[in-house]
Amino acid sequence: MKPVLKTPRLTLREIEKKDIPELFELIKNDWDLTRFMLWDPPSDISETYFRAENKNNKDYNFIVFNNKKIIGRISIREIDYTLKSANLGYWVGSKFQSKGFGYEMLKAICHFIQHDLKLKKITAEVFSQNIASQKILEKMGFENLGLHEKCIEKNGIWYDEYCFELNLKK
Ligand SMILES: CC(C)(COP(=O)(O)OP(=O)(O)OC[C@H]1O[C@@H](n2cnc3c(N)ncnc32)[C@H](O)[C@@H]1OP(=O)(O)O)[C@@H](O)C(=O)NCCC(=O)NCCS
Repeated sequence: MKPVLKTPRLTLREIEKKDIPELFELIKNDWDLTRFMLWDPPSDISETYFRAENKNNKDYNFIVFNNKKIIGRISIREIDYTLKSANLGYWVGSKFQSKGFGYEMLKAICHFIQHDLKLKKITAEVFSQNIASQKILEKMGFENLGLHEKCIEKNGIWYDEYCFELNLKK
């Protein structure tokens, strides 16, 4: 059965096709939202359909709701049950940012990864300029393992990235 996660203000459930139009409205042409992510904002709904496809059916792609409205998305990918590790990707729609939702959804997902998937290590990579993302990871207890200089290329520019890790063995 597909998991549904609840927090005091949020519901997280696997993405469904019916979510796409609302998802598209939230992110379309929002270059500010995607400035520290690897993709550009969609200008056409078919791009949103494409991005929502779970190409690797081991991944979890949660849509995040507050008061029945989509406010963001958080994905668990690169799940490795041998190494007991996984990697995260997430965003909160621009108009819903800085209200604590990012931290609240991160906390729920880390709890799910630890207690349901029973993994021991969670990683996330963050552009060095992305202060909000670094803040929520640090608040959640992730350790900053250091800077990888010029390791990510986006639209012809090379960016520095911090690698974060939550070690659940400790
Ligand atoms: C990163 C992101 C998910 C955080 O979500 P959020 O809902 O805004 O996060 P929260 O409100 O829980 O916390 C954000 C924290 O960063 C702080 N913050 C936000 N922008 C900041 C800035 N420019 N400088 C310093 N602090 C900043 C907020 O004050 C808050 O800190 P606090 O808890 O001490 O008050 C959201 O900003 C986002 O989606 N950004 C665009 C996509 C993205 O970067 N995704 C992550 C890729 S690694």
